[in-house]
Amino acid sequence: MVWISNPVKRISGHIIPPGDKSCSHRAILFAAMAEGTSYITGLLEGDDVLRTGEACRKLGAEVTRTGKGAWTVTGKGGFEQPSEPIDFGNSGTGSRLMMGAMGGYDIKVEITGDASLSSRPMGRVLNPLYDMGVTAENAEDGKLPLTLIGSSTLKAIDYTPPVASAQVKSCVLLAGLNAVGTTYVRETKKTRDHTERMLEGFGVALSSEDDGEGQVVSIKGGQKLKAGEFVVPSDPSSAAFLLAAGLVAPASDVTIEGHMTNPTRSGFLKVIEGMADVELTNERTVSGETVVDVKVSRRDGLNATNPPVELVPAMIDEFPIFAVLAAFAKGETHVTGAEELRVKESDRIRATVDLLRVNGVKVDEHEDGFTVYGCDGKVPGGGTVETRHDHRIAMSALVMGIAAENPVAVDDIAMIATSYPEFFDHMKQLGADIREA
Ligand code: S3P
Repeated sequence: MVWISNPVKRISGHIIPPGDKSCSHRAILFAAMAEGTSYITGLLEGDDVLRTGEACRKLGAEVTRTGKGAWTVTGKGGFEQPSEPIDFGNSGTGSRLMMGAMGGYDIKVEITGDASLSSRPMGRVLNPLYDMGVTAENAEDGKLPLTLIGSSTLKAIDYTPPVASAQVKSCVLLAGLNAVGTTYVRETKKTRDHTERMLEGFGVALSSEDDGEGQVVSIKGGQKLKAGEFVVPSDPSSAAFLLAAGLVAPASDVTIEGHMTNPTRSGFLKVIEGMADVELTNERTVSGETVVDVKVSRRDGLNATNPPVELVPAMIDEFPIFAVLAAFAKGETHVTGAEELRVKESDRIRATVDLLRVNGVKVDEHEDGFTVYGCDGKVPGGGTVETRHDHRIAMSALVMGIAAENPVAVDDIAMIATSYPEFFDHMKQLGADIREA
């Protein structure tokens, strides 16, 4: 069975994308670490976030859904020994952030994940955690499943992550919350800063200082989180699929309500501003994040644009859909400095290159990126894309089908629910024609 996206003439509508995945994980987790009841609205109810909620429940917090996107979380100010293993499903963010959070308590936790997560590197979080005093069993290969053994006597570290990763930074900062002394994370390239912003919202003092292209973030151990009220802003990484649909369709008029302009998340928005007409209006603030409404409407064509290397972390999840735009653009697009894509939910460089190739687009694969030879609006399509447990590959392929010369199929859609359960509803509202075949 495959799912097919058929070409359509017009894409139009006004959509509020679901809650941001990064902020949703953090809202639940931080509320579970706090003492007292927190009220969260706008939560993304995708499988990844629900698993973080389930993990927090197993660690002693009360996590209750009170309405669509509305959750209350009552934390005990610390974690208890869980009686069962914790399965993080497909979620790198949930597993890596929670390893840092769990590492600061005297608990022993068996951690598992699905086939995709079990192939992803965990050494990047285990290594700094080991330096702080966490230990692990069955972790020699640096992959899940493994058993994490936390400690209530962690020591602070001064750490420079070898890769630009908000998950690594966040893991170390969360372990640092329960360590003796001040923990420093030195980033050579700034990554998304939701952990820092949201911890401040939970009453934790942190310091972030710019350092060239990067920053030094520090946190003093022993601070308590305060329960509160949090509104999760909508997810720019989900919005990217809707904006791209508007940019590739032969005629379009798409407005996205509440798009974050946080510079650590808006790389895709910046790049498409150079490719087409993009209008930003109605700037406002939601729980410490500035948001705007974004309108794209179709004009003559898309200009190929090379994303600057310094923007890579700020659009790290948007490269598959950006490659689809590059396929429709006029001219060559060069993506470099994006080797992190090799260890996402799939090897996203290989999966993206194959997505384009099977649909008749010329593309070269490089170790740290790819070169797309744009088709100037005439993408042949007609291929069936192998999605490899990767939600963003599946959604990118289905967006390509909207405007390719022939339908585009995907071999699986189940994992789209990890990040964007309303994807099909929203695409239908915009006028896309996606069906099972
Ligand atoms: C995330 C960080 C990024 C991103 C992921 C979410 C986060 O991963 O790709 O989807 O919420 O911290 P890395 O930290 O591995 O770059």
